[in-house]
Amino acid sequence: MSGAQKMIEALSVNHLSVEFLRGRRYVRIVDDVSFELTKGASMCLLGESGSGKSVTLRALLRLFPANASVQGSIRADGKDVLAFDKASLRNYRGREVAMIFQEPMTALDPVFTIGDQIAEAIVGHEHIDRGEARKRALSLLERVQVPSARRRLDAYPHELSGGLRQRAMIALALSCNPKVLLADEPTTALDATVQIQILQLLADLRRELQMSMIFVTHDLGVACEVADTIAVMYGGRLLETGPVAQILTQPKHPYTEGLLRSTVQPTTSREELDPIPGAPPDIAALPPGCKFAPRCSYAQGICRESEPAFLNFGTDHAVRCFKAEFGASFADMSEVPS
Ligand SMILES: Nc1ncnc2c1ncn2[C@@H]1O[C@H](COP(=O)(O)OP(=O)(O)OP(=O)(O)O)[C@@H](O)[C@H]1O
Ligand SMILES: [Mg+2]
Repeated sequence: MSGAQKMIEALSVNHLSVEFLRGRRYVRIVDDVSFELTKGASMCLLGESGSGKSVTLRALLRLFPANASVQGSIRADGKDVLAFDKASLRNYRGREVAMIFQEPMTALDPVFTIGDQIAEAIVGHEHIDRGEARKRALSLLERVQVPSARRRLDAYPHELSGGLRQRAMIALALSCNPKVLLADEPTTALDATVQIQILQLLADLRRELQMSMIFVTHDLGVACEVADTIAVMYGGRLLETGPVAQILTQPKHPYTEGLLRSTVQPTTSREELDPIPGAPPDIAALPPGCKFAPRCSYAQGICRESEPAFLNFGTDHAVRCFKAEFGASFADMSEVPS
């Protein structure tokens, strides 16, 4: 498709890289990440701990620490996010894209009540008085199914259970009607029943409010239920992206295959679980070539020497793997072609 014909995506990320200064050198935490999120669609970001999922999500909101350097582009509804001035950025955060953080207490301020925090976020973006904003805060708490919502408006974050705190954070994220919601493991701190309720709630809200959503989870069962597409991250790179059904039934990257074998899915029994050998890599000391090669049972010489490109297979399935790229001739590639 040519640029002119292409529909405007909710989010379009191209060759995004994020580096952090550690000591005297930059360490690349996110490397050459590209993906598109269609309006109204839901994408699940999968990957082991430390693969760069949270840094990627925060980058979409332009939340970088002072020691960060960023390359590439992020477009939201066609606008260049990395070029926003302060006023546009303030307008963008919360209204265009909002985030549910991995740790509720990083988003909720312990010294203000839940009601005050939500009302403050609304007043900060819209010209309405505090009384009106408080009414909206109440209706948001009701919408995210906080029981006795009126009483909870005056509660401080520490007075709520983990599940209610998570719901309060969702209400805060929804306070300015965002077009895209980023949910960074919205359920890790919660027990299994509450996890399912929260994810179901997010799925319902997405449909009802016609938002797009990117969420991080370690749970593939959850991903299947809530996502349209899956993006698999490893060592700061995307290794595979595609529609859920395709990724689940025909994964092209050996890491995705490994994740599927090692994660509980509705059809797996405990005996069938097969963990990926080895440990996640140290992002500051990645091997040359394919970052997954040291743990990959298919790896050939070429995989250890050069890094595969992130290539499209079909319209919306992209993979970073020589085995996928070379198909049948991959088995003979123990030497790098000269
Ligand atoms: N502000 C920072 N300064 C320096 N390094 C950082 C910073 N934030 C994150 N990192 C590093 O970036 C890497 C990726 O971290 P990130 O939090 O994105 O991982 P993750 O995929 O979200 O993992 P998890 O599943 O455990 O949440 C880690 O090695 C982490 O130590
Ligand atoms: Mg994280």
